[in-house]
Amino acid sequence: MTSADPIAQSPQILACTISRDVENFDLLIEDMENVLGEAWGDLSLQEASEFLSQPEASAMEFVAIAMDESDEDQIPQIEAIIHTARDAGIKVILITENVSANQLHQLLRSGAEEFLPYPLPEGELASAVERLRAPAPAPEPQEAPARTKKIAPSRVNTDGVVLAVQGMAGGTGATTMAVNLAWELANMKGDTGTRVALLDMNHQFGSVGTYLDLPRRDAVHELLSDIEAMDDEAFCASLVQFEDKLNVLTAPPDILPMDYLSQGDVAALIETARHNFDYVVVDMPSVITQWTDVVLNSAHVYLAMIELEMRSAQNTLRLKRVLQAEDLPFDKIRFILNRAPKFTDLTGRSRIKRLAESLGISIDVQMPDGGKPVLQACDHGQPLAESAAKNPLRKEIAKLAAQLHELNQTTSEAA
Ligand SMILES: Nc1ncnc2c1ncn2[C@@H]1O[C@H](COP(=O)(O)OP(=O)(O)O)[C@@H](O)[C@H]1O
Ligand SMILES: [Mg+2]
Repeated sequence: MTSADPIAQSPQILACTISRDVENFDLLIEDMENVLGEAWGDLSLQEASEFLSQPEASAMEFVAIAMDESDEDQIPQIEAIIHTARDAGIKVILITENVSANQLHQLLRSGAEEFLPYPLPEGELASAVERLRAPAPAPEPQEAPARTKKIAPSRVNTDGVVLAVQGMAGGTGATTMAVNLAWELANMKGDTGTRVALLDMNHQFGSVGTYLDLPRRDAVHELLSDIEAMDDEAFCASLVQFEDKLNVLTAPPDILPMDYLSQGDVAALIETARHNFDYVVVDMPSVITQWTDVVLNSAHVYLAMIELEMRSAQNTLRLKRVLQAEDLPFDKIRFILNRAPKFTDLTGRSRIKRLAESLGISIDVQMPDGGKPVLQACDHGQPLAESAAKNPLRKEIAKLAAQLHELNQTTSEAA
């Protein structure tokens, strides 16, 4: 080429912000400067698609699209921008503030590589860019689709096995999982049968009692208000039985503050339950409490329910940050994707893959949508096995229970 290339004269632009007005996202401006110095530009929503379809744009690494609730009517335009960027081989980081779950869901499908909340958490843009720059992992060998992979217990048990379930957002199916997992375990065939306790640790709006149609008893309040005085007998006396097989510590009749129990109280409660039962299934509140780490540390398996949507994704990121900042074992958490797309749904599968990658987690187990019968089972106060035994969700939970049980048998024989 004889004539000077006009692009080469200006500093190489590696990235662009795209928004209605970038001044509304001043933390993003700051972060872009930290990550890229001057090698970035800014485009309005109107300019973006045209610019990105020019050949020179494809030299860019990524675009950061920022939007808030006032851009909700621009979603089709934003989706078009994402598609144009991806066609040009440019990665997309989506940054959102106060955008409704529905809209986010729609955007999540459009193929952005990373999604971040605004205001941007410290260092989050830098780590997202780092992830984008990491070489793509070698393609995984195609295996036969196995919905349920093995979950290894994280330590050898002596007393009962503690299985905790927490939803990464409200309504992600934590209680449904806890109740049905506990029921499946209680029905495991064995020489002696398995003794299972189910503890509802949501002392405010716990719904285990509702899902199993059990009364909320004052005895629970009494137990929780003086854990120091608790012995095996007092603990067992405050449990109610579901069909003589499952022992349940329901939530107390009145709402208690989430910090009603101290760390020591919760540790004592779990230890006592472990002495008395083979399995202790703990239904955790979806909020983080001062004793969440006690349960996390004592659990053999800590299940986190997520869904393919923004709230789960963002809360998982937040949880990851908190746990890692406090040196708590984030890696112990096994993620379960609830209401997972079907295996034949290829776009669904790639969305799952992207979600896992962008959160830096592996999604070990997927649970299908069980439809109306799941809600009906809750309303009738029955586990799925009793009211809808053939339901696909029930089948997967039964499989998971069987695996956990089998692993537990092998590890306790080996111990
Ligand atoms: N896989 C599923 N298929 C169909 N309905 C489900 C599924 N998982 C949960 N639900 C329903 O979603 C609602 C919320 O579930 P729940 O277990 O109470 O969530 P959480 O305890 O996380 O708030 C309930 O009505 C439940 O019946
Ligand atoms: Mg719940």
